[in-house]
This record gives sequence, C-alpha cells and structure tokens, in this order.
Amino acid sequence: MIEILDDYISLTAADVSYIIRAGQDRIISVYWGPAIKLEDAVSIDFAERWSSFDPEEEAYRQEYDVYNGRSFLTPCVYLDSPSDRLNYMEFSRLETTSSEIKLYYDICPSGLLLEVRYGIYSNGVVWRKASVSASEKTGLVSFYSGSACFHSYDQMSAIYTAGRWSGEWQVKSHDIVPGCFQLGSRQGFTSETFNPSVMIADKNCSETHGMVYSLMLAYSGNWEIKIEHTLTGITRLVAGLSSFDNSIVVNKGETVSTPLMYLAYTDKGYGEMSRLLHDFENANVIRKRPYCPVLYNSWEATGFNVTAAGQKELACKAAEIGCELFVVDDGWFGQRNSDHAGLGDWYVNPEKFPAGLDDLIRYVEKLGMKFGIWVEPESVNPDSDLYRTHPDWIYRSAYAEPLQCRNQYLLNLCLPEVREYILSWMRRLLSRHNISYIKWDMNRNMSDPDSAFFDDDSRIIWKQHADALYSLWETITEEFPDVYFESCAGGGGRVDLGIMRYAHQFWTSDNTDAFDRLRIQYGCSLFYSPRAMMCWVTDNNSDSGRAVRALEYRFHSAMCGGLGIGADISRFSAQELEVCKTMIGRYKSVRHLISGGLLYRQGNPFTDNVVSFEYVSKDRKEAVIFTFLHSQNFGMPLPNIRFEGLCNDKRYKLDDGCAHYGSFLRSVGIPNKLKGDFASCMHHAELVECE
Ligand code: DGJ
Repeated sequence: MIEILDDYISLTAADVSYIIRAGQDRIISVYWGPAIKLEDAVSIDFAERWSSFDPEEEAYRQEYDVYNGRSFLTPCVYLDSPSDRLNYMEFSRLETTSSEIKLYYDICPSGLLLEVRYGIYSNGVVWRKASVSASEKTGLVSFYSGSACFHSYDQMSAIYTAGRWSGEWQVKSHDIVPGCFQLGSRQGFTSETFNPSVMIADKNCSETHGMVYSLMLAYSGNWEIKIEHTLTGITRLVAGLSSFDNSIVVNKGETVSTPLMYLAYTDKGYGEMSRLLHDFENANVIRKRPYCPVLYNSWEATGFNVTAAGQKELACKAAEIGCELFVVDDGWFGQRNSDHAGLGDWYVNPEKFPAGLDDLIRYVEKLGMKFGIWVEPESVNPDSDLYRTHPDWIYRSAYAEPLQCRNQYLLNLCLPEVREYILSWMRRLLSRHNISYIKWDMNRNMSDPDSAFFDDDSRIIWKQHADALYSLWETITEEFPDVYFESCAGGGGRVDLGIMRYAHQFWTSDNTDAFDRLRIQYGCSLFYSPRAMMCWVTDNNSDSGRAVRALEYRFHSAMCGGLGIGADISRFSAQELEVCKTMIGRYKSVRHLISGGLLYRQGNPFTDNVVSFEYVSKDRKEAVIFTFLHSQNFGMPLPNIRFEGLCNDKRYKLDDGCAHYGSFLRSVGIPNKLKGDFASCMHHAELVECE
C-alpha cells in the first residue's frame, strides 16, 4: 500500500513500512522497519546533529542525492564534468500508481532530469531504480540505484558471502563500525569473489530471532555495495554500478537507468529473511516453470573427450536411473579437444559426431529425455577460426598483449557485429536442433578493457558490456521461450537477480564435493532460492584426494536444490545404479517442496556437527527434511530431528507410518539414528487428512 501525507510517502506491506520524505531539494530516508502509521512518522527526527561540526547534509539521511560538495558520504549521482560537478536537486513532480511511486527532480545546473522509482511487493520487499534523461550530452562517473538508511548504532554486522572458484559462498561477517565497508566486482561479471547481496543484522541475530535488513542488487556487470556508518549511528547502504573506471554517457534526448535493487526487512532472524527472499524471487524474478528437470550433465564424466558413442552410453544409463534431461557440456564443437582451442567456432565437430548432433538428440529423445547443450558465447580461444578471422573482435589495449585467462579472450560485445555473430550461431543452433536446455557459461574475468573502437572514452566499456550481455540473453530467451536456461560462470560466478530474469536456474559451484557443498549451498541459500540452485551428484571430486562419501549422502546433499547427476555413471555397478534410481524417484516425490516450499535451516555446516535442511509446503501440509552428521564423536547421542513450520494442532504421517502432531514434531522430534562419519537421512511428513 502506498500512502502520502504532505511530502511524506509510505510504502507498506506484510507488516513492513518504508517511509521517505520527498523534500524540495532532497529525498530523505525517514523510516524502514516494522509497520508504523504514516501520521506518526512525521515526528521522526531525521536530521539529528550532535553539534554544528556535524555536516548538515550528512545528518539528513540522504535517500537519493547528487554530489554537491556538502556531504562526505557517497553521492548517488556524480557528474563527469570538471566545470559542473557540483549540482543540486530541485523537486519537479510526483507520480503514483497503486503499486509504484515516481519522484522527478531537476538536477541543476547540469539540466538532467532524475527519476527515482519505488515499489513494494506484497511480502514487504521494496524495489528501487533510478533513471536520468539529458537535454545535452552529459557524462556520469557514479550513478547508483539508490541508498537506504536506518539506525544501527554500533550493534549490527554485515553478513555476506565471499569466495573464489570452487570455494564460493563462504559466509562472512563484518562488524558495522564507523567508516565505509565495501563489496563489489570490478571483474566485468558478477564474480565468485563477492555476490551483490548483503544482510545487515543484529549482532546477536540467529536463524530464528533478530532484526535483519537485506539488500540485493540485480546486476551482472561491475557492481558496488557500500555500507557507510556515521558517527550519529546511521547505517547507509548504497548500491549500483561500480564507479571505478566508469563512465556513463547520456546523450541528448536519451534516458539511462540503473539496475534494480531490492530491500527487505524482518525481525525474525536469518531464516525468515531467506524465506522471504526466496518467496519473492520465485514469484517475481526467476523465470518460471514447474520444476527443474532432473538432469544428467556429462562434464565431470567425459571432460573434453566428447564422442557420440560415449554420450550415448551415458544417456542410456541416465535414462535408466530416471533423468529427464541429458546435457552435453563443453567439448562438442569446433576443435575443442581441450581448453586451448575451438572456443568461438560453433559448429558441431564432425569427428566427434559423424552422424551429426541430431542423431544423438534423437537417441536421447527415444530414451524419454530432453536434450540440452553447453555454450560459452562471450569468449574465444586464440586458437580458433573465429579469432584468426577477427583478431579485432576482442578487448585489447594499444600498449600490451591482451591477457589470456583459461587460454581465452573475451569478445568485445559492444561491437554490433560481435553481437550479431553470437545471435546468428545461437539462432542456428536452437532452430536447427531440438534443444530444450542451454547452459550458458563464461570462464574468465574481463581484462584489457579497451578497444580501438572506443576512440573517445573506453570507460564506457564496463556498462556497455553488461548491457550487451543482457540484450543477447533477452533476444534469445524471447525468441526461444520454451528453452530452459542455466546461468554459469566458472561455477557460481554469475548468480544475481539481474541474470535470473532470463535464467531458470544457476550453477552454484564447480566444487561438487557433497560435504563442501553443504556449506556452499548454505551460504548461497541465505540469499538465493533452492529452486534455482543446481546441485549435482558426482564422483565426489575423485581427484581431490578426499575420501569418497556414500552415494546416499551425495544424493541427499544434491537433493537440497535442483538435482543433477554428474558422475561417470557408465562405471557404476548395477547396485549403484539401483541406488541412483531409488534416490531420483524419492527426489521427484518431494521436489515440489524444494522448488516452491519454505526452507528451514537448522544448524550451520560451517560450525555444527549435525545440520538439517527442511522444506515445508506453503500450505504447511507437507515437509521433507534432510539431516547430515559430520562425524560421530565419542559415541555421543545426537539431538532428535525436529520439524519446523508445521501446524501444531494437525497430525502428520511420517515415512515409517507413525503419525504425530506438528507440536510434537517441532518440540520433541524423532530420533536421529545416524551413525558414523558423513552420514545422512531424509524424512518426509504429510498431513493426515479427514481425521
Ligand atoms: C565451467 C563450468 O562451471 C563447468 O561446469 C563446465 O561447464 C566447464 N566450465 C566447461 O568448460
């Protein structure tokens, strides 16, 4: 609901209020937290100053501001104009609909028109976006999506995920103390290093209790989230495009917009915050379809050694155990026999597929599965026909040899002919073959951000590259609406709510060790919905030197998201294949809970010996819980397995036929019979109807 009282504006839903004041020369954050009445909000003093030494502009909690040289916090807009860098905002008009407000300000003297938009979803998630229109060509260095302020005194911490290839999603915490703490990527893509998502929580916040604010930025290029904390106890979150080496040009008559940013609040701990975010993502962001098909992906089994015969052998076993989709990963095209060659040459390799790709597709379809394929449209190997023909199609500076990462360069997507090339081979691939699924990968940082093409100012590359990437995704997903898409970047390097507008699912990490995965998936699930989080059962990083975990454990770990199989099942024994079949069958019977239910995490795999992940249907009629024991120490008894989120006064039937009230399952639970190290189990509870 949107309410207006004088120049105060309140967005309220699901017991959360977000209140701002649209003043004549500034927009102020008045309040964000549990719902309050708008008439009470006018009494909030949002300009506290301890003394006249405190910068006045800073004391105002600037919700959206333009650099005027009077505040020492990060301005949302900073012009790239030495002569006109100091600007001020002048209120122009307000437009409202039942679900959205638009505030217009003139930016003077530069003549830009600023539009700041807000909306609120029914679960209390607020969205923000800004745009500027120019009457003369104008450059911007910084143009953030917005900022949001709240009181945190010194009592809160920032919770975020950090990592690297194969070690993404490690949960980190940083005390909010005066100063500025920043997360971001300057790598040209979302990155595995940090993810554009953060929670600001009470220091003693737990999974079930405590105040949590969160911010998620929907962007897959260079991004920044700044957490500024002032000496007056205000925390200010600023998010948007990275302003480092940045230039945004707004041409005469043009409008340029920021990425969307999302803000959420709860006072019920991390668990409730994640459920809120998942629910919002499932309903409003992630491309929809009933469930992720159970897929088989050949990457870990065959690597680059792709042959039609080998893929058929795997497909046969995949169908036998119940997979619904068979995906051929890297290595099917050009002269792609290793990661040194072939990238960019998107024709089916005739030696590997002498009877053509359709022969394999027909084979897979006859087995009752759909067919999917891997692509990496943005990159090129120097050893490829594409690069030999178009060496000028990559980013490179005039002064140094371009840097190779994974033996490849990044294509200059800002060039229309490069985009056209990508679109033409993708259209050809998708229209000539019956392909139901695309895994869209990207395996390097962006370096040498320059090109002879940009004779003026190559700093525009970063934003233009991300815009071009989105335009490719948009065109292809619109033209092929029935194809499922997975977003991947060397593991979990492109997981964000910007790409998830186009993709149905994302690859979480190349680390598929079932125990490491519990931690990775835990970190990822703080922000992202299990519906889209892909998890594979593999041969357990057999080259990592670690002990192989039981097949059931590997399954249980991978069943906590979208299930895939990546193991070399051609080598599995009949007994192992039977286990796969049973586990996939079980997964199918509960995947509606994992895909669309509410996640309750119990314990933290980074620190706890026993952890559970429970998925409860939104109508509370059904739940499945996966429990994992790390190690059996000293024969100590284990705590019972407890179900959360069920109705206390309703009875639920368990897998063993026993029935209990929800209150019992929550408070007492069922015995945890796990034994040994790396043990796991799955329990299902279903409402007893008509009692
Ligand atoms: C990186 C991905 O994360 C892997 O799953 C696999 O697709 C390889 N790229 C293929 O090169």
